[in-house]
Amino acid sequence: IQPNYANISRWTAQYIVDKINKANPTPERPFVLGLPTGSTPIGTYRELIRLNKEGKVSFRNVVTFNMDEYCGIPQNHPQSYHTFMWENFFSQVDINPANVNILNGNAPDLEAECEAYEDKIKAVGGIKLFMGGIGPDGHIAFNEPGSSLTSRTRQKTLTLDTIIANSRFFDNDINQVPKTALTVGVGTVMESQEVLIIVNGHGKARALRHAVEEGVSQMWTISALQLHRHGIIVCDEDATNEL
Ligand code: GLP
Repeated sequence: IQPNYANISRWTAQYIVDKINKANPTPERPFVLGLPTGSTPIGTYRELIRLNKEGKVSFRNVVTFNMDEYCGIPQNHPQSYHTFMWENFFSQVDINPANVNILNGNAPDLEAECEAYEDKIKAVGGIKLFMGGIGPDGHIAFNEPGSSLTSRTRQKTLTLDTIIANSRFFDNDINQVPKTALTVGVGTVMESQEVLIIVNGHGKARALRHAVEEGVSQMWTISALQLHRHGIIVCDEDATNEL
């Protein structure tokens, strides 16, 4: 528990940097990092950019897999997760673009796209550290309430709650928000060696309570973290309001 958002961001970025540096990755043995979008990780990305510019970490031998991507909007749409990631992180660090993996929500065969993503994660030896956020309803990636806790990468229909929450990025117009997305599954996330979830603000307090104090339930998919051997939640004081 950190006092505020700035501390959350600094703590998380330093944690990731220490992990990468300790692994001392090479092209043959890269560090495999899972990454989220959303407003929550922006501060962490800023810190990671700073540490990269200061020479405290290099992303040259880091391979990334993003959690999710909307279906039905072009990759270069201002609100696509591709755009988000390149603007907020990848374009500002020394990562090799060939090492960046983001689901293609416009692939001609979405099922094949999801299967190929899972295969690619396996081919690089699995994800070492998956960073994530949560929705106010406790969803991780786009694993909406009701998602199987063993689910794999697939297309999901977004709930009305999520569409409303994300409409702030689409002129507050729910009609502009994509209705489906490709997302890694809860099972995909839980298979990572380590999972680190950032939870910020009182708007996430209920979700955090379900994550750590209620039972494991497919209605609050983040609660699966209770079964992970190395799950970390980094949150601010406000997010603990309901604990
Ligand atoms: C979206 C993303 C999630 C993210 C959530 C919360 O639904 N698919 O990965 O955790 O938004 O976003 P924010 O951090 O903006 O609250």
